[in-house]
Amino acid sequence: MNRICLVAADGRGTIRREIYGHFSEHIGGVFRGGLWVGEDSPIPNTRGFRNFVIERFRAIDPPVLRYPGGCFAETYDWRDGIGPRASRPRRVNWWYKNDRRVETNEVGTHEFTDFCHMTGAAPYLAGNITSLTPMDMRDWMEYCDFPAGETTLSEERAKNGSPEPLGVRFWGIGNENWGGGGNMTPEMYAREYARYATICDSVNVGGARFIACGANSFDIGWTDRFMREWSAKCAPLWGLSFHYYCGSAGDPIAFTHEEWDRLIAQAGRMEELIERHAAAMRTFDPERRVRIVVDEWGVWHPDGSGPSKGYNLFEQQSTMRDAVVTALTLNIFNNHCDTVYMANAAQLCNNLHCLFLTGPNPGEELVTPTYHVFDLFKRHQGARHIHTAGVPASLSVSASERDGVVTLTAANLNYDRDEAVELSSFDVPLGARARLTHLTAEPHAHNTFEAPETVSPGAPIELPVADGRIVFTVPAASVTRLEIEE
Ligand code: AHR
Repeated sequence: MNRICLVAADGRGTIRREIYGHFSEHIGGVFRGGLWVGEDSPIPNTRGFRNFVIERFRAIDPPVLRYPGGCFAETYDWRDGIGPRASRPRRVNWWYKNDRRVETNEVGTHEFTDFCHMTGAAPYLAGNITSLTPMDMRDWMEYCDFPAGETTLSEERAKNGSPEPLGVRFWGIGNENWGGGGNMTPEMYAREYARYATICDSVNVGGARFIACGANSFDIGWTDRFMREWSAKCAPLWGLSFHYYCGSAGDPIAFTHEEWDRLIAQAGRMEELIERHAAAMRTFDPERRVRIVVDEWGVWHPDGSGPSKGYNLFEQQSTMRDAVVTALTLNIFNNHCDTVYMANAAQLCNNLHCLFLTGPNPGEELVTPTYHVFDLFKRHQGARHIHTAGVPASLSVSASERDGVVTLTAANLNYDRDEAVELSSFDVPLGARARLTHLTAEPHAHNTFEAPETVSPGAPIELPVADGRIVFTVPAASVTRLEIEE
């Protein structure tokens, strides 16, 4: 029996809602045939966006959605995506060499922010700093959020259908500028960052928050060198990102026990990454003014396992293994909520580690096991973190309290061994009853258009709280949520 104890006094503060963020890029089938089907489609839609996705996405309380890339952002001109849709240009985009699909620009700033408003997600726009100028990015900000009637750009926005500001608070300055975003050194990027952030800040009328492009996974040197260069001038900087994908662990569906263990171990390194990047940042920012933003994370499996069989670039199936990686990662973010301010799972639909898979025909749409994890974890958003003492290496656990309900989420990292838990509390009042919900299926289980409910949460089970203790089992390879009324 594993004995886990809730200790509120050792909690790390508020779990920011933005930790539960998402990412949608103009790539493969994320928008085309995924989120976006067009107003004339036989697939039920609202102003061109698929109703199934709107409804299910809204149901998990998405706090933020990043757009339009990713690498795509570094060749994107926002002006291509405004004005009458029929006359928008078709462009060769960043991903053209990979899939030979041109960008139609049917979805641009207005459509994207409309999707955000329909689903409740705050828009997070990534600016192009590799092939556009600081003034172009400043203009995009002015276009989005300057009060109606005051400037030519805000008038243009009104003429294009949105008199009210679009409410974009999060602005990324570039993407992966160590690679596809210009092959820069950290020093080169820090100087570019300062130019763009300084110019964009001059039009900052709505509390915009600037996020700098950070390292690729374990490149702590990037963080160190960027922060050193940035601290010489201190251009406005709200957050510094890093990206971390795990993968290289066999077939997305037909993996072995050993490959399960390998992927779980890789995913667990998120904790080390957060601590090491945070330590590098604190050398130059001891007051911790700059926040960590993990604006791309997820599992990157080999291509071709999704319904389109490889047509949609990077599309992949998701099994219980990916659900456990999701829960492990979100628990790590919760347990580092004093350091991580935002994170964005990559990507939302028909792509890496996605929540939705869709096909070209009406009815071909499903939520993945990963979606269900976000649903099970949503009560952590904005909650007060509670430390969990005594967690064994085979479990990943986090806990929080909001509105009188304590939520504990656990992932069993074992491929084939259940774990029994006795939960007690040091300083959190526990009411008389608890409710347990399992997301459990055999490790390779996944959802298909023919069997979309293969992996879905079971009915909640009522559990007694006896002598301040709750006993429950976390099945092998599962994700479990326990809710206790205080
Ligand atoms: O998510 C797919 C790609 O992965 C993104 O465009 C890029 O930022 C990262 O390398």
